[in-house]
Amino acid sequence: MRTPRQQLRLYRLLVENSLGLMCIHDLDGNLVTINRAAVESLGYRLEDGFGQNIREFLAPSVRHLFDAYLERIRANPVDSGIMHLLAKDGTERIWFYRNVRYEEPGSPIHVLGHALDITERIKAERALAQSQADLAKARDELELRVAERTAELREANERLRSEMQRRQNIEEELLRTRKLEAVGRLAGGIAHDFNNLMTIIVGYCESMRSATGSSPDLQREVSEIYKAAQQANSLTRQLLAFSRRQKPEADLVDLNDVLTDMSDMLRRLIRDDIEVTIRTDPALGPIRANRGQIEQVIINLVINAAQAMPQGGKLSASTRVDEGWSWLSPGRERQPFVCLTVSDTGIGMDPEVKARIFDPFFTTKEPGEGTGLGLTTVYGIVKQADGHIAVESERGKGSTFQLYFPLIERTIETEAQPPRVFRPPTCGTETILVVDDQEGLCNLLCEILRNNGYSVLGAPNGREALRLLREHPGRIDLVITDMVMPEMGGRELAEALRRVQPKINILFMSGYMDKVEDVRALVSCDHAFIEKPFTPEALLHKICDVIATPTSSLHGEREKAS
Ligand SMILES: Nc1ncnc2c1ncn2[C@@H]1O[C@H](COP(=O)(O)OP(=O)(O)OP(=O)(O)O)[C@@H](O)[C@H]1O
Ligand SMILES: [Mg+2]
Repeated sequence: MRTPRQQLRLYRLLVENSLGLMCIHDLDGNLVTINRAAVESLGYRLEDGFGQNIREFLAPSVRHLFDAYLERIRANPVDSGIMHLLAKDGTERIWFYRNVRYEEPGSPIHVLGHALDITERIKAERALAQSQADLAKARDELELRVAERTAELREANERLRSEMQRRQNIEEELLRTRKLEAVGRLAGGIAHDFNNLMTIIVGYCESMRSATGSSPDLQREVSEIYKAAQQANSLTRQLLAFSRRQKPEADLVDLNDVLTDMSDMLRRLIRDDIEVTIRTDPALGPIRANRGQIEQVIINLVINAAQAMPQGGKLSASTRVDEGWSWLSPGRERQPFVCLTVSDTGIGMDPEVKARIFDPFFTTKEPGEGTGLGLTTVYGIVKQADGHIAVESERGKGSTFQLYFPLIERTIETEAQPPRVFRPPTCGTETILVVDDQEGLCNLLCEILRNNGYSVLGAPNGREALRLLREHPGRIDLVITDMVMPEMGGRELAEALRRVQPKINILFMSGYMDKVEDVRALVSCDHAFIEKPFTPEALLHKICDVIATPTSSLHGEREKAS
């Protein structure tokens, strides 16, 4: 059995060595006792002297709250909460306390204080909260960056896609152009000889016409030959149209006029079970193209549309102005276009067919029904006029062809020029030297000219022509020469002739339209050129023109140029 004294000693030791923070103070805050743990928590040693009143241990920021605490503990048996204290090194410590008022009859009232130092826990909690806040901020920033980067990537992707589309368009254009060039070379190769033959046929038809005046039957038959020959001519032109060799004269063309003028013909061309609507936009401006070719384009598109509607349907052709079309090259400056639309409610096309429609000789029609050159021709003509074609079509849902041509602003210069007036052929006394390697054509030309009163010399090549020029006793007023001949071409011959007779008049003829450029380089006016095939009448007009307005001297031009 322990004595009460021993018991008391044990309790004191228990309190003094407890890890919990303990103290006893009176109702004014004066310290009665404090244990080691509490003192050391504030950085003091129990042996050191320290303050007498709890108030002195409080952090300055909360000292003004101490009176309120004393009032609470005087009124209530228990008070608990957070207390901020000032350690010896000036730092702040945070205690969670629970103080109990103890009263005993006959003794002064005391307060038994128990506390836990939660400074480190609070610091850890604050650090955790801070790092959570930092984390949230970093996450928000990251999300923002990701969103920005995604937008940038999307934009770059979009740019890449449109660049790829542009390149694909260009590649397709290039491929088509190459195919056209290949077919063009083929067409150009035969066109020269073909044109010569057609000139002979047309020429002899003309002379037969006058010779058969008394026989209406013969006249009719010759007319038929003549008509067939004209059709053959237009076929050659069609072949040449998509070969780059032919670049016909381009004029200002009003698509509204063309459509209106063609409307009767188009309606006759297609069957009654197809309803035709033609709409023209009055605000339309002109385009620069060859009117004949534009008619050819419209006919091809309309025939295709009609062929796509074997059970009948609706066909519409219309014009409109498109203010800013930039299909070929996205991002390029917008430019006004004149748009010609031909659409039908016919069978439409699969994507595979649609991808090949402009290919030369591509056709889905039965053998003998289509050559597959219709749209190739359309394509060639539209490209020559710096235009574009857009096709929309789906199987069973009809097709729409939209042709875009650059709109030409009307200026005084572009206003219509007065048509050129031809003088009737009144010449026929001069001497003309005809040079052509095609014997039949050479003979025909000589005959036509002779029949019209000219004195004529014929030569099958340049060498012979030069010999005739030197040896002919009289004056030679005009030389008519083919441009393309073996050994010595028209250009070389002209130079050689002018070395002999500098002011000699020369008229060039060729079936290759690109030779126009060559001729222009040789003479200053373009009327010294005639395109094969030509009619005798056209040739006679041309000869009169050339003789009346002599071509300027080759040497003179050279001197001026150098
Ligand atoms: N309006 C259209 N509707 C449906 N398919 C079309 C249309 N236009 C053209 N096509 C398709 O494009 C192909 C090529 O047309 P293109 O005009 O070049 O030749 P074609 O009509 O077959 O023969 P050609 O015109 O030389 O007589 C056609 O065979 C057809 O399959
Ligand atoms: Mg066709």
